[in-house]
Amino acid sequence: MSRRRIIAGNWKMNKTPAEAAELVALLKDKVVNDAVDVVYCVPSIDITTVAEAVKGTNVKVGAQNFYIEDKGAFTGEISAPMLKEAGVSYIIIGHSERRDIFGENDILINQKVKKAFASGLNPILCCGESLALRKAGTYCEWIKRQITWDLSGISADDVKKLVIAYEPIWAIGTGETATADQAQEVCHMIRETIAELYDSATAEAVRIQYGGSMNAANAAELLAKEDIDGGLIGGASLKADFAQIVNA
Ligand code: 13P
Repeated sequence: MSRRRIIAGNWKMNKTPAEAAELVALLKDKVVNDAVDVVYCVPSIDITTVAEAVKGTNVKVGAQNFYIEDKGAFTGEISAPMLKEAGVSYIIIGHSERRDIFGENDILINQKVKKAFASGLNPILCCGESLALRKAGTYCEWIKRQITWDLSGISADDVKKLVIAYEPIWAIGTGETATADQAQEVCHMIRETIAELYDSATAEAVRIQYGGSMNAANAAELLAKEDIDGGLIGGASLKADFAQIVNA
């Protein structure tokens, strides 16, 4: 089965609305690869601007966070219906920065995955190990446990539409990329985990990204690996280099 490549930029907490419009304009003529799903996951305040700016192109808009209720007394949060109406189709869930800085745990992450599917948003579910777990050699067990918890109660039909991003924490924003072989090892293990939890058809359908210091120079080698179906890109998504990754 051939899986469609998906390259997503995670802009994190960067770009004001005016700067966001400039970045979309900079990338507009360069990001035109119809063979690839391209997503800009932008700060909530930029969503309307970016959704307008990418109209008529193949680029989809993603968000970086939301809460599991539709509305109500949840100061500071944003809901799935709000994101949908603003033109969002993908949502990053379980990023290590949300887990480590904002204390999100696997129970909430699992609720968010359920809510995203129920709301018609496509989750990009992140997982990955710390440097300590990498050094201890227990990273596969850790990631398997994250995936198992985060997907608890999710149907095979939904998992077939899921994107999973493997992001080793030691490679995020550090300039230290996992080697293509290291990334492939874990992405393959994630696919095997999906086969164990569901079945081989579901494992073949789920798309798995690598994320962590992916850039124009290393993207092609990573993306050539059998179980790596795309990338979730931080720093390099904020400049023209992103187009080279889309076209790698
Ligand atoms: P960098 O590409 O900046 O390492 O960030 C990766 C990431 O966290 C994407 O979600």
